[in-house]
Amino acid sequence: MSDTAPPVYAGPTRVLSGIQPSGELHLGNYLGALKKFVDLQDQRPFLFVADQHAITVWQDPQKLASQTREIAAAYMAAGLDTTKATIFPQSAVRAHTELAWIFNCVARLGWLDRMTQFKEKSGKHKERSSVGLYTYPVLQAADILLYKATHVPVGEDQKQHLELTRDVAAKFNHDFAVPGFFPLPDPLIEGPGARVMSLRDGTSKMSKSDPSDYSRINLTDDADAIAQKIRKAKTDPEPLPDTLEALKARPEADNLVGIYAALTGETKLDVLGRFAGQGFGAFKPALVEVAVSAIAPIGERMRCLLADPAEIDRVLAAAAETASAVAEPTLDEVRRIVGFWSPRGR
Ligand code: TYM
Repeated sequence: MSDTAPPVYAGPTRVLSGIQPSGELHLGNYLGALKKFVDLQDQRPFLFVADQHAITVWQDPQKLASQTREIAAAYMAAGLDTTKATIFPQSAVRAHTELAWIFNCVARLGWLDRMTQFKEKSGKHKERSSVGLYTYPVLQAADILLYKATHVPVGEDQKQHLELTRDVAAKFNHDFAVPGFFPLPDPLIEGPGARVMSLRDGTSKMSKSDPSDYSRINLTDDADAIAQKIRKAKTDPEPLPDTLEALKARPEADNLVGIYAALTGETKLDVLGRFAGQGFGAFKPALVEVAVSAIAPIGERMRCLLADPAEIDRVLAAAAETASAVAEPTLDEVRRIVGFWSPRGR
């Protein structure tokens, strides 16, 4: 064994993340991802619409491009400034899929077999799932490492995919003897918004695919819809406790306190400090107020932006060029490292 540790990645910091255009965005996407992107925007993040990930399950081709524009509009409506953030469609930078193929040959079957999201999404019909759904985390590793991203803000459900990305980076660096070539990116997951649960069941995640619209707050919901969903959210008859331990035992209460904290930028303990001893009759109206003031304007801005799809297309096209200018040199280096033929090289 060598007595010197392999060099670590020494390149610049880069923040990158993505969201799939596979349905309406909800409060979980906002608190777990979008809000963090806005908080990090001075770091000039690369943010994409993961349309190649979306087609791992059936997407209506008539709708996919407009869903892509909707996610781009959500990025901007949430407060991202396109002079700071590079917002582009994943499929517009073809290097993602080429690097994903190379990573398919680096990642091991055993790693993918452990991915819980594939098990959840494929359900009982694994053999009828697309091959893309299985190898989805490898494409995600390519998305991240193509830009040598060092920090990836995501919700907690992406943690395992980020671990796989680190494994792919480490194995590539090792197998091809290029220590420090790819960074081992850090997931940015912390905070009370990292795992927002259903409003109908505090033990299951808020999700686009839940059949009940009352389980989630959509970013396009207006003030009345947001208020009604919070009023109807499942709770219990007890007043709010004063400790995190006691809160933990009550999943629905824990979720609503977590949502309040994430929206206001406080900790759950701060929120309990103000509301302990009070019932949901007092807490829910306070939550409605903060949720409506954070979310309703996003929906309004989205509607305005979507009224001018040509402007969204202009933003996406310009950003795709910016992204390609970073991605292509990485792919060229990777092609050289793995030994692919090129007229200039080996
Ligand atoms: P997606 O489109 O399912 O979700 C987008 C982001 O929202 C977060 N999220 C949540 N956060 C908190 N509570 C919830 N209930 C909740 N539901 C969703 C997700 O964690 C995610 O951050 N595989 C990714 C997209 C992707 C990606 C990437 C992300 C593709 N390539 C590279 C980062 C880097 C996905 O399906 O996210």
